[in-house]
Amino acid sequence: MNNPGTPVPRHVVLLVPGGLALLAGLDAALLRLGLGAPVADDRWADVHGPLMVLGFVGTLVALERAVAARRAWALASPALLGLGGLALLGPLPLAAGQGALVTGAALLIAVYGVAWRRQPAAALAVQVLGAVHGLAAAVLWLAGVPVPHLVPTLAGFLVLTVVGERLELLRVGNPSAHVETAVWGLSLGWAVASTVALLHPGTGWTLLGAVLLALVAVLARYDVARRTVRGTGLPRFMAGAMLGGYAWLAVAGAVWLVHGPVLSGAAYDAVLHCVFLGFVLSMIMAHAPVILPAVLRRPLPYRPVMYAPLALLHATLLLRVLVGDARGVDVAVQVGGVGNVVALLLFVVVAVGSAVRGPVRARTPREPAPVGSPA
Ligand code: HEM
Repeated sequence: MNNPGTPVPRHVVLLVPGGLALLAGLDAALLRLGLGAPVADDRWADVHGPLMVLGFVGTLVALERAVAARRAWALASPALLGLGGLALLGPLPLAAGQGALVTGAALLIAVYGVAWRRQPAAALAVQVLGAVHGLAAAVLWLAGVPVPHLVPTLAGFLVLTVVGERLELLRVGNPSAHVETAVWGLSLGWAVASTVALLHPGTGWTLLGAVLLALVAVLARYDVARRTVRGTGLPRFMAGAMLGGYAWLAVAGAVWLVHGPVLSGAAYDAVLHCVFLGFVLSMIMAHAPVILPAVLRRPLPYRPVMYAPLALLHATLLLRVLVGDARGVDVAVQVGGVGNVVALLLFVVVAVGSAVRGPVRARTPREPAPVGSPA
């Protein structure tokens, strides 16, 4: 399946709208930072959040799930999420794009239904709950709820999706049965907290902070990443990205627990991107070499150069959040934000380059090992 000579499957075309959504989202990010951007359109700036969450990451999640479901209709989910994201940018009415996102998110739940009928499991249930958050966020946005109030729901979509996938891997470490129950219970806790946050923000956001901190504590305690970070090559790269991601989630949880609703200002910028860049994008970088080959039907070999965008993402996020947002240094927010943009673009270049170059050539015994190469 993962032979470089295999023709690229047709569904790969669905990565195009998702990729364009990323580029437009990055353009919008520069506008939100108050900087110049190739397309300086206020509407792009306004839709940055839902475009990134549902149009870009949502397309990746749905495509991976649809390919695994092996049903032609399932591809309608990533198609609608990607095209819906692009439709947000104009000239159609905003509701056209929002409607497509609602339909794409609803279909994602149906796609999970295929997997559920094959093998129901707690880990899958957590991912389904994530998709339900995605649908709820899309519906509420269409109904006119402002984006800052939707952050717990939007974050629930991506955080629970990743957590569910990690829960599958926790089984490798053979943890006690209580761990699965704890993660599932905390995921339900997220659903309760994000609902309460819409109705009674003071209680809901504080509860969300507590749930998130407890979730991170369980995951960080039992995740195989704690062991594999002492390994080499891809497992170590993935583990480093995971553990860094958990640290950012803990920061977000602590801010929500202490401050309650965070709906604007520096803390809003910080906590949002602790979750979406520090955790979600770090996880995407970590999992790209294992998830994308299943979608592309060709290898995306790990190469040590993949550390460059990962390190740049975390370093520039530290600058943005700890120096810029926490101390009110606007220029650090801007420099860090531009660094975040460069890190994401660099990762795309590195990933495409690695896929094009193909498998890493096996070393002969006489060749010295390149520094930092996988074992
Ligand atoms: C790559 C670099 C990125 C930069 C420089 C950036 C920048 C920004 C800025 C400046 C804001 C406004 C914050 C405020 O109002 O205080 C914002 C909002 C937001 N961002 Fe990002 N962002 C980036 C990536 C992402 C990604 C990858 C996601 C999701 C996967 C995301 C999700 C959001 C959300 C949900 C909002 C709230 C939007 C709203 O209130 O309308 N961002 N971003």
